[in-house]
Amino acid sequence: MIVSPSLLAADFANLQRDVEMLNASVADWIHVDIMDGNFVPNISFGLPVCEAVAKHAKKPLDVHLMIVNPEKYLESFKKAGAAHISVHIEACPHLHRTIQQIKELGCKAGVALNPHTPISQLEDIISDLDLVILMSVNPGFGGQRFIHQSLEKTEKLKNLILQKNTKTLIEIDGGVNLETGKLLKNAGADALVAGNFVFSSQSPIDVIKLLKVV
Ligand code: DX5
Ligand code: ZN
Repeated sequence: MIVSPSLLAADFANLQRDVEMLNASVADWIHVDIMDGNFVPNISFGLPVCEAVAKHAKKPLDVHLMIVNPEKYLESFKKAGAAHISVHIEACPHLHRTIQQIKELGCKAGVALNPHTPISQLEDIISDLDLVILMSVNPGFGGQRFIHQSLEKTEKLKNLILQKNTKTLIEIDGGVNLETGKLLKNAGADALVAGNFVFSSQSPIDVIKLLKVV
């Protein structure tokens, strides 16, 4: 299992310390949640923080843009250290073009789906995607409860990927812990984002290890 701990639950006054902890852990990626107070009802942090994190991070930055007009900021996030850039399907009227732009920058291209957005919307874009983020909570906040419907959605996405014979990875974001993680693995998930489950624990390093072999 690919594990992508979310910095949204880190201690923002000790970001360097927390990034170094992730460097020393078996985490695969570092999930960076960008919120604009417009696409989602919360503001997290932006480009300068991403850039500061990139200076210390030894793992790929998995940037999740919860913003309107993400196409305006793709190049800036690439420059700020993003390895993966995921945009929300609900925020992209010209998704195909936006995905091509991400790839032209040399980043892995992802699309994120809100809980109510059906998998069928991915049919004609899935072959172009490196990853799909299925939101298993409504985006905007950490520490919310896992929406169980996401398991069926994961299975549907897995079937679409098999049917289209693509190498797209399935990443699940929101309310992930060992229990939901195991169910998600069985449903076909390749990657798990975990914020509070990692950072609120006594030993984030050990929790990451457990998620890895969920
Ligand atoms: C939610 C973010 C998530 C969040 C997950 O909008 O996209 O990445 O950090 O947090 P937990 O794991 O606490 O649900
Ligand atoms: Zn996220």
